[in-house]
Amino acid sequence: MDRSDAAGLRDLFASMDEDDLVRRFFSGRAPPDDVVTRMAAVGERGGVGLVAALDGPDARGRIVAEAACELLPGGDGELGITVAPPYRGWLGPFLLDALVDDAAHRGIPGIEADVLVANRAMLAVLRRRGLAGMGHSDRPATLRVVIGTVGRVPPWPWRRRGRRLLVEHPGGTWHADDAARAAGYDVLVCPGPGGGWSACPAVRGEPCPLVAGADVVVDALPGETGRVVLESHRAHQPTVPVCVELPVRASPGPGNATTLPRGQGDAAVIGVVQRVARTGPGPRREGEP
Ligand SMILES: CC(C)(COP(=O)(O)OP(=O)(O)OC[C@H]1O[C@@H](n2cnc3c(N)ncnc32)[C@H](O)[C@@H]1OP(=O)(O)O)[C@@H](O)C(=O)NCCC(=O)NCCS
Repeated sequence: MDRSDAAGLRDLFASMDEDDLVRRFFSGRAPPDDVVTRMAAVGERGGVGLVAALDGPDARGRIVAEAACELLPGGDGELGITVAPPYRGWLGPFLLDALVDDAAHRGIPGIEADVLVANRAMLAVLRRRGLAGMGHSDRPATLRVVIGTVGRVPPWPWRRRGRRLLVEHPGGTWHADDAARAAGYDVLVCPGPGGGWSACPAVRGEPCPLVAGADVVVDALPGETGRVVLESHRAHQPTVPVCVELPVRASPGPGNATTLPRGQGDAAVIGVVQRVARTGPGPRREGEP
């Protein structure tokens, strides 16, 4: 993608229906010309942009898809992607893979995106690459996510607050993540091996780079998966403190990790996480001396 693609991008955006415009731009209108021209010049600012164009005598190079990542202050890229409806079904993941490769070659470690919770297709594409949740907002309901460009494990984004809390929980969000941020943590929520992601290092018995970069971990993955992941962390990264959050009626957690309290509110939960982060791993159960 470069400046010469601006007219083709304008035509692509002009052909989108209102729902797709909202998914792509969070607004029912196509962006104005000067914004599209700036988008096309993303490579001049150190980012990466790709277009997919039709070939052949009648196509005149018509652009049917675009994917770009604009450089963010911390070094990651901010994702935007569009595929015209007749070309959906494979082109989105294909273009994202190509963008990820280019970004990796340029030293961009992660690609971040705000995605509407209702945008199931985009979330499915990102989930398959291995996403982690960075946060969420309510109006409109969006998730902030990050994927990695080198391998399938997302990187820790640039430190915004100082300390890092990794939460392993299905879905990429966690009930106390806002409280943790308010307490001074950067929080990543990894859905673990569920959610279509088969590249989880912990289930392959390997150290997890996200755990290695964390000051403290909360394992809130249910059932057997949670147990396997926890055992792997304990075997490979025993110095990283881990808390366990169990479903309401589950039996007591393993003795090597602190079990988080239930029904006491998010502030109490984060209070325990902070204490565990300070005092390190050890066989303790909340409420016991
Ligand atoms: C998001 C987008 C780029 C994905 O590209 P694509 O070529 O459509 O990708 P796919 O067709 O492979 O669909 C991706 C996945 O979503 C699933 N999917 C598609 N529509 C879905 C829906 N309405 N609900 C649930 N899943 C859906 C597909 O089944 C597929 O999953 P699978 O491979 O496991 O079967 C494309 O849909 C698009 O341009 N949307 C409008 C703009 C937009 O949303 N941009 C993202 C802003 S960050």
